[in-house]
Amino acid sequence: MQNSNREDDDAEGDKEILEEQQAAAAEEREWAGMDEAYVRGELGQGHLLDAAPGAKRQALLEQLTALDGQYPGGLAAYVANAKELLERSREGANPYDGFKPAVPQGERLQANTSQFDESEAIGMEEVGFTGFVLVAGGLGERLGYHGIKVALPNEILTERCFLENYCNSILALQARARESTGDAGLIVPLAIMTSGDTHDKTVELLNKHANFGMADGQITIMKQEKVPAIVDNEGRFAQDPDTGLVETKPHGHGDVHSLIHGTGLLERWKDMGVKWVVFFQDTNGLVFRALVAAIGVSAARDFDVNSLTVPRRPGEAVGGICQLDSEDGSKSLTINVEYNQLDPLLRATLNPDGDVPDESGFSPFPGNINVLIFKLEGYHKVLAKTKGAIPEFVNPKYADEAKTKFKKPTRLECMMQDYPKLLTDDPDAKVGFTQMERFMCFSAVKNNPADAVGKLKGSGFAESASSGENDIYHNNRLLLSMTGVNVKTTNLDNESFLGLPVPVAAKVVLTPAFGVTVKEIRDRFPSPDKVSISERSSLVLDGDIVVESLDLDGDLRITAAPGAKVVVKNLTVKNQGVEWVPVDFDDQSVDEAMRIRGYVKKENESLVINQSDPGETVVDRP
Ligand code: UTP
Repeated sequence: MQNSNREDDDAEGDKEILEEQQAAAAEEREWAGMDEAYVRGELGQGHLLDAAPGAKRQALLEQLTALDGQYPGGLAAYVANAKELLERSREGANPYDGFKPAVPQGERLQANTSQFDESEAIGMEEVGFTGFVLVAGGLGERLGYHGIKVALPNEILTERCFLENYCNSILALQARARESTGDAGLIVPLAIMTSGDTHDKTVELLNKHANFGMADGQITIMKQEKVPAIVDNEGRFAQDPDTGLVETKPHGHGDVHSLIHGTGLLERWKDMGVKWVVFFQDTNGLVFRALVAAIGVSAARDFDVNSLTVPRRPGEAVGGICQLDSEDGSKSLTINVEYNQLDPLLRATLNPDGDVPDESGFSPFPGNINVLIFKLEGYHKVLAKTKGAIPEFVNPKYADEAKTKFKKPTRLECMMQDYPKLLTDDPDAKVGFTQMERFMCFSAVKNNPADAVGKLKGSGFAESASSGENDIYHNNRLLLSMTGVNVKTTNLDNESFLGLPVPVAAKVVLTPAFGVTVKEIRDRFPSPDKVSISERSSLVLDGDIVVESLDLDGDLRITAAPGAKVVVKNLTVKNQGVEWVPVDFDDQSVDEAMRIRGYVKKENESLVINQSDPGETVVDRP
């Protein structure tokens, strides 16, 4: 594993990096160190010094020096940017004034159609030349889980965590690419952005599991830093009264672009032959179902930037991808417009009713899910020019009408999907979208169960650990059903765990080794009408497996290790299977990863077939 910010036990290395950063920032200002006059004068932060006497002051100056080195242009630039953005926020300036929205260029794909298959086929030619970037620096406050989100099991049948599934998906794509290119050494790389909140635990997780099978150097870790919290419109920093230190907050996932630039990642990836860079989030268990086809759309349409999107319900708290054209026609920008800005923009321009559905029942503007595919070539040029510094925003919650006081400290933030704002000088850059059904591409785990109940009532999406898990089973059931397998997908009953509905339906896990495209999964069932799976069943298919005839009523797990192949010629399974047993959210004796679902798995009886012998094994047990 390559690690651009060393681990804690490598304190010398950390110190070296810090010193380099400090030296660079000092050089930029032609100034040799952070002194009190500078803090009081240029930075306007004298209040910090006044409240930090003696030893606390030294620690404060050291912290300010470190923060200065971490922000492009130093803290003076941070304060200046903050003042300007806070002034605009106070005025209530509309960033899209003078722009008219239109639906951008893009493709709307439905799973299991010939159009989808074609995109997947094109995508499969490209996946070997793709680098993946996982943004995983978020604290996950809404979920409230004490570990890191990527360590949570995606689903508890296999208990494989999000990061393991992402690594397995990339390795499966790599295996297919090695086969099709004949290049046995081809590497599909992964970069992970961590933060102070997630870094150590991410490194620990990877170390514990030997990088989930990834090769040395295949994973690059980039750690983002926090920025000072701000208490007023003058950009004064918040201070911890006990330590005298500046309070800091996350700067947002937009940091990923400056880190990619700063670590030289793209140069390395370019040398490896990477053509596409895919960004995705920490807890989207469905994303790899959609990515191959979406990369195919990027390639077919030669998109510089392609946003994977879902049909958006008007009013839904999901941004819409819009093409914004200036009134004089001189500027055009395709970008995510946050949902709270979309309605006023539409009212002021296209439609006095604002954010309303079209004849499809959805908003004409595709819903952003923060999965982005960039063409490396153009991205590399833009980063060289801009250093990847994404325009920031500020979102203070005001405590008074004059907008002079904040309810709590705010900070500048930046979002990775705002990258197209760096393309304004490049009118030829092609920015578009690929829309897919939600069940094919998006299910996040963001909310604790209590809040999820409210979210479900409001938006219709719980985005909890249990909904994330059940969306995986739902996706696999639907794919099997589309293939012709006899499995119930509609009119399902629900059980309730912690007030959240869980469908009573077959729990199906189809691992990346079993299938990375819809076509691959379809081809695994040559006679789907001879396959039936009852509602109380659970099924895990992992590896090179062909299912010709299966009657499943219970629990079945089949694993074919690399090099082995299992052909289920004829198999009837009837056993006690697996059941979900309710657990109390507050029961500390239960693993937190299970408690946040409200259930644990009780394994009554299973049929397990593990095949590691090379060659074909036929299962014929009618
Ligand atoms: P989320 O919207 O899920 O936010 O981030 P969050 O910060 O993780 O969770 P809350 O808001 O505290 O509940 C979307 C994606 O962006 C990453 C997250 O890890 C997630 O993959 N992210 C977010 C970062 O990498 N850095 C950040 O500063 C913020």
